[in-house]
Amino acid sequence: MLRPLALPGQALPAILLGTLMMVAALPAARAQSHAAAEDGYELWLRYRPLPAPLRQRLQPRTAAIVRLGADSPTVRAACQELQRGLAGLGGRTPALAAAPRAGSVVLARAFELPPSPVRDAQLRGLGQEGYLVQRTRLHGVDVTLIAANSDIGLLYGSFAWLRALQAGGAEAASAMTAPALASRPALPRRLLNHWDNLDRSVERGYAGQSIWNWWELPDILDPRYTDYARANASLGINGAVLNNVNAKAEVLGAPFIAKAAALAGRLRPYGIRVYLSVRWSTPLELRETRSADPLDPEVAAWWQRKADQVYRAIPDFGGFLVKANSEGQPGPQDYGRSHADGANMLARALAPHGGIVMWRAFVYNPPVRPGQVSDRAAQAYEQFKPLDGKFAPNVIVQVKNGPIDFQPREPVHPLFGAMPATPLMMEFQVTKEYLGFATHLAWLGPLFEEALRFDTRAGGQASTVADVLEGRHGGQVGGIAGVANIGSSRNWTGSDFDQANWYAFGRLAWDPRLAGSAIAREWAAQTWSADPRVRDPVVALMMRSREAAVDYMSPLGLHHLMGTGHHYGPAPWVDNLERPDWNPVYYHRAGRDGIGFDRSASGSNAAAQYAPEVARRLQDPATTPTALLLWFHHLPWHYRMPSGRTLWEELVAHYDHGVAEAAAMQAQWEQIRPLVDARRAGDVAQRLARQHAEAQWWRDACLAWFQHVSGLPLPPGTAPPAHPLTYYQSLRFPYAPGNG
Ligand code: GCU
Repeated sequence: MLRPLALPGQALPAILLGTLMMVAALPAARAQSHAAAEDGYELWLRYRPLPAPLRQRLQPRTAAIVRLGADSPTVRAACQELQRGLAGLGGRTPALAAAPRAGSVVLARAFELPPSPVRDAQLRGLGQEGYLVQRTRLHGVDVTLIAANSDIGLLYGSFAWLRALQAGGAEAASAMTAPALASRPALPRRLLNHWDNLDRSVERGYAGQSIWNWWELPDILDPRYTDYARANASLGINGAVLNNVNAKAEVLGAPFIAKAAALAGRLRPYGIRVYLSVRWSTPLELRETRSADPLDPEVAAWWQRKADQVYRAIPDFGGFLVKANSEGQPGPQDYGRSHADGANMLARALAPHGGIVMWRAFVYNPPVRPGQVSDRAAQAYEQFKPLDGKFAPNVIVQVKNGPIDFQPREPVHPLFGAMPATPLMMEFQVTKEYLGFATHLAWLGPLFEEALRFDTRAGGQASTVADVLEGRHGGQVGGIAGVANIGSSRNWTGSDFDQANWYAFGRLAWDPRLAGSAIAREWAAQTWSADPRVRDPVVALMMRSREAAVDYMSPLGLHHLMGTGHHYGPAPWVDNLERPDWNPVYYHRAGRDGIGFDRSASGSNAAAQYAPEVARRLQDPATTPTALLLWFHHLPWHYRMPSGRTLWEELVAHYDHGVAEAAAMQAQWEQIRPLVDARRAGDVAQRLARQHAEAQWWRDACLAWFQHVSGLPLPPGTAPPAHPLTYYQSLRFPYAPGNG
């Protein structure tokens, strides 16, 4: 049994706090202020005091902060962050000094340093955004040097060093005595995509309103914008698309350009460029052109003027994100033109300013004839693969991680590896539209990792998705985007554990090869406590959580079983929507004969869109990974699984396991709970209780439906659903968040 600890600077349950305040060295005022501050606002930048021995070692090494060269807003931000972080961790604010003395932390760009062959070579390999942190002798004294080729590298290096210190224990000790941190980002474009509307609602947002207070901008600038920028810079995120992909024409009107410019001003010192989502038909809707045909010179000239106007207001504007001919959005196909025609016209307008177009490949059309066989999962590939090599150099095609839509588990999108002549941008969803909103703990690190490490076998060679994004296959360097889960909630993401999804996205955007478990460890140490008695069980909880959600929602490759519109809760019975490919029954195809979507050669043959080696495996149920079985195959209920169970028994076992996992996660938290601050701990506990109840609901509703259509009895010893099927079918959630 774990005993509560008096962790330095950590808020403790009130009952323990009383005792400790009498006996511990911790000043009462500080303990109280930490308790009050633990509302999650600080994210992973909490900088709580290190244990005393580490603090004592840190102080002489952080006597002063010195920047060797010219000042700039970015270098100032780095110095301020170091002061803030070191004051918190070490208990003393280092002064800013003009010249290095023993124990200084020195920030220097490469050209400001005395020559050193080894270091110079190292710095040359770090590119424009990389950093190097080392203990060294400089101008005759021992210092901690943070070096880079640019100002932003210095900021990233400062955050990296603070992260290592916050890890506590041996890692913090070595970050003080012999830091050897050197890193550069693998991808040049690391963006958050905000699906934020101009009325401040957030599509698929579960953390309050938009953090952008559009109404008050550009005159009133919330200090939160700077904290947002700090958090992103601490991870290396270097771009933000401010508005929803379902964009409004007004965002390109002068008032909103001014608002975006004001935000750009706040984000710029932190290396974050602003981008906008644009609506294809903007000039037409504003009645400034007579069409939106990309080949119409009047239309192209309008976009050129618009790009010029945006760049006058925001000289480092990043570019446009476009959702066109997708889910009812207008696009070039309305004029018989291709996605490439549309993207290239916009690209020409942005090119003189150095801007890019991120053109989304999230497209699918309803069947043209009644009864026509269609497979939504195959359509993006069908439309985009033939366009490989036809895009302008400043176009990046943005592809969701899987071929449907951010489901709890999907195979990797077949376009990765299939467009060697086109830079691709990975689009992950950080907000959990299909993974229980902010109420469920489902840590996405393993989902991101699974996608990035998938070997596409493009060109018949080992070529992971990360390799493809980095341009190792085809030479086209792409990027990575995450649909943000950030809102106006005090803790930013609606739940404390959802901060970890923002964190994981950012860390993997910087280095797509990082292990999920290492990221979880870093985050848990900084956000909860570096004490292994807290950190390790928090990591264990996170690591099991995504698979638990897959099991209680859509195991074995099932997908799209959720409620209509809001996407909350189970509704596998829905079959009455206007488009067949919006109905859950279209995806699971469960009936008397079996369950699953046949995407092998006997069905839609979407499996053939993968590289031959991968496709061969996916064509055969025996070689298809069990976790994706029903994504690719329609199989009889009595199909024998590798476990020896029938498919029906296996399905039931997965649903039961998911619910058991949700219960176990709740119990695991109760063990951790006394060791962390009461306010956040209580919030997590309430969410885990709701998650457990909703896991049961998912399991019961899905099994009730599958039993109904299969006519099969539940395997012996299986608990029946708590309610009849009609009860689950009658539930309605008109006010579920994020819908619209
Ligand atoms: C999903 C989501 C929509 C979103 C769309 C997109 O379908 O439910 O809200 O607009 O993805 O990515 O464009």
